[in-house]
Amino acid sequence: MPNSILVGAQWGDEGKGKIIDFLTDEADIVVRSQGGNNAGHTIVIGGEKYVLHLIPSGILRKSKTCVIGNGVVLDPVALVGEIEGLRKRGVKVEKNLLISDTAHLVLPYHQALDGLRENQKGTKKIGTTKRGIGPAYADKASRTGLRTGDLLLPDVLKQKLSQRLKENNALLKSLGAPALNAKKVIADTLAAAEVLRPFITNTVVFLHQALEKKASILFEGAQGTFLDIDHGTYPYVTSSNTTSGGACTGSGVPPHRIDKVIGVLKAYTTRVGEGPFTTEDDALSDRFHAMGREFGATTGRARRCGWFDAVSTRYSVILNGIDELAITNLDGLDGVESIKLCVAYRLDGKVLDFPPTDSDQLARCEPIFTEMPGWMVSTEKAKKFADLPPKARAYVKKIAELTGAKLSIVSIGPARAQTIRL
Ligand code: GDP
Ligand code: IMO
Ligand code: MG
Repeated sequence: MPNSILVGAQWGDEGKGKIIDFLTDEADIVVRSQGGNNAGHTIVIGGEKYVLHLIPSGILRKSKTCVIGNGVVLDPVALVGEIEGLRKRGVKVEKNLLISDTAHLVLPYHQALDGLRENQKGTKKIGTTKRGIGPAYADKASRTGLRTGDLLLPDVLKQKLSQRLKENNALLKSLGAPALNAKKVIADTLAAAEVLRPFITNTVVFLHQALEKKASILFEGAQGTFLDIDHGTYPYVTSSNTTSGGACTGSGVPPHRIDKVIGVLKAYTTRVGEGPFTTEDDALSDRFHAMGREFGATTGRARRCGWFDAVSTRYSVILNGIDELAITNLDGLDGVESIKLCVAYRLDGKVLDFPPTDSDQLARCEPIFTEMPGWMVSTEKAKKFADLPPKARAYVKKIAELTGAKLSIVSIGPARAQTIRL
């Protein structure tokens, strides 16, 4: 398999975990290169459901190596919980997991600050996952962060963490919040360090050597294109580069080693948290929620739902260099009589083919829809593209045509087997 970056082409939760698990069969190494445990990637194998937050979704395939790259922000206590949870279920997490020694740590003061800032924003809140992601990336950029490499040296860790706790407790108090128990935070972090130490290494060298041996790498994007700190619907975004470029900076694998970019998208659109959403449709949200669909894998929040948006996805295709599309959740539209697709936006009397970069302008855009007839039968048992009803085939082909990328995978259910390769 060529070295491939898989990105979410919408606002996250596109089904990346499921598609990564499917594609890992052909790859040697799966790499996470940005985000943290704000991600929730769901994989269903043989009726068993797994939700991964920090560990790459390749972990469920024996004999594959999973790498948490330098661009990830890593909550050590949460990661230990995830490792233990997987081990309890019989999943091997040993030498098959490597953690970069230069990934930044998410610590309890980051979570406290994330929650506080959200509460202070009131109606202007971002709707973060409150996992401390923004404050951890802010510390990285401010050059005051602690890194996974610090977990290797208990004395250094203790000294750095004490200092950072002093500063952050003062900050928390000034914001009217209680200070954290420094002793407990240090003890918890040292205990997590004990568990994580054997996994921590220079993953840049590991990946370079693996590439020399012709290993193939699959990069597992977290979040989605429009949550990107640079290209997303700022400020309603996360704090990392979720677009394909982030895979290189977040892993140390140079751009010329990348062969392909795969964009994962739902056959409709969802978003969790605040921010503009042009094709949002309350009736569609109600429909999916009544079916038990579209609740967040990390926070359990009901996702906002809307029609497929070719304007934003077209932008996603050029921004990420998406070669191939993996369309998921086609089965979600099985009983919808008439399906809307947004083909352009209207703003102040002008027709736009690409979304405006300003969130306030985007919020004022009106969708221009075209409609296609629904297929009104279940697609869940289809094994190959030809098994899909002609109207469903026409629908996914239309998505590819409108967005300018090649159709490569269609997913018609959460299970590994419910995946059609074109
Ligand atoms: P990720 O964050 O991109 O990995 O996606 P999530 O796991 O947060 O959300 C995707 C949801 O859709 C999960 O519940 C998956 O099990 C589910 N899923 C993925 N593909 C399909 C599909 O084709 N059909 C159905 N019904 N569910 C799917
Ligand atoms: P996966 O990888 C969907 C959203 C949050 C919020 C914004 C900022 O499962 O697709 P953060 O906690 O990152 O500061 O929150 O980003 N968000 C996600 N939405 N899927 C995700 O990850 C997300 N990770 C963060 O809801 O709007
Ligand atoms: Mg998710």
